[in-house]
Amino acid sequence: MMGLETQLCKMKLRNPTVLASGIRGNNAHLLIRAAKEGAGAVTSKSCSLAPREGHNNPTMINTPEAMLNAIGLSNPGVEEEIGEIRAAVMGAKVPVIASIVAFSIEDFGKVAERISEAAPHMIEVDAACPNTHREGRMFSACAQDAAAVAKAVEEATNIPFSMKLSPDVPNIGEIAQACVDAGADAITAINTMGGMYVDAYARRAVLHNWFGGVSGPALKPVALKAVYNIRKAVGPKIPIIGTGGISTGMDAIEMIMAGANAVGIGSAVVLRKNVFKGVCSEMSAFMKEKGYKRLYELKLEE
Ligand SMILES: Cc1cc2nc3c(=O)[nH]c(=O)nc-3n(C[C@H](O)[C@H](O)[C@H](O)COP(=O)(O)O)c2cc1C
Repeated sequence: MMGLETQLCKMKLRNPTVLASGIRGNNAHLLIRAAKEGAGAVTSKSCSLAPREGHNNPTMINTPEAMLNAIGLSNPGVEEEIGEIRAAVMGAKVPVIASIVAFSIEDFGKVAERISEAAPHMIEVDAACPNTHREGRMFSACAQDAAAVAKAVEEATNIPFSMKLSPDVPNIGEIAQACVDAGADAITAINTMGGMYVDAYARRAVLHNWFGGVSGPALKPVALKAVYNIRKAVGPKIPIIGTGGISTGMDAIEMIMAGANAVGIGSAVVLRKNVFKGVCSEMSAFMKEKGYKRLYELKLEE
């Protein structure tokens, strides 16, 4: 669609919609399907060094305001994932972003090195999953740990990589800047925010894991603020994939105005049919109405 092209590092995207990690992107077939459905780029489910089964059910609940999940990073491990990413790169005809996760800084380097064999266009480093705690907290909980992960990945691969950050921190801009200083080429913001639902009749938390990650509409204002603050911190050159609560063209326009170069779409893939095409045509309609020709013209007035 005219005027929606964007660039993330060296990747040229036909439109700014990116399938976010973990939602219908668990194998090459699903990644290719999202590309056929109109995504500008696709991100795979995070893979770890060894296979992981994940948490027991229930792992997900959907309400009108939000989705809450604690999947527990179930994935087949990097060895098997290499084949899936390779097949996706061959078949998707749009850039493929391979998401990785690990439970030690050293393992982040190892997974990055292995997944690079599949030659994805970019690697996304999930330093923010609520299920990956180091001494009880996420790697992206502080600038020092996040930078150590970024450095390990930088040393392990020549493929551009984006650091995916958590909103559950006091100063996300500072953490993003530390990642960039350590070699990150881009920032993906945000992963889910920690949350919980209660079943009053059962007098228990709804999810088996009790806590999970909040995504969907409720996350949008949190994501907009995070992206705005990251853009302020890292300056104009570092690409940002703004993710959280995007399901319409107006959501995407707002996210780009806040400072994103592209928009990740996760929960809405489940909530809205043909979401990528719908978001793009609504963006185009707004841009036409307001006389914007290119995405970079979408800026907040300050
Ligand atoms: C079911 C589910 C699984 C997810 N798995 C991952 C994952 O493996 N790695 C990751 O980086 N993010 C994961 N996420 C987070 C999403 O990529 C995204 O950052 C978050 O859901 C916010 O975007 P949304 O509001 O569009 O869903 C997952 C989200 C959901 C809902």
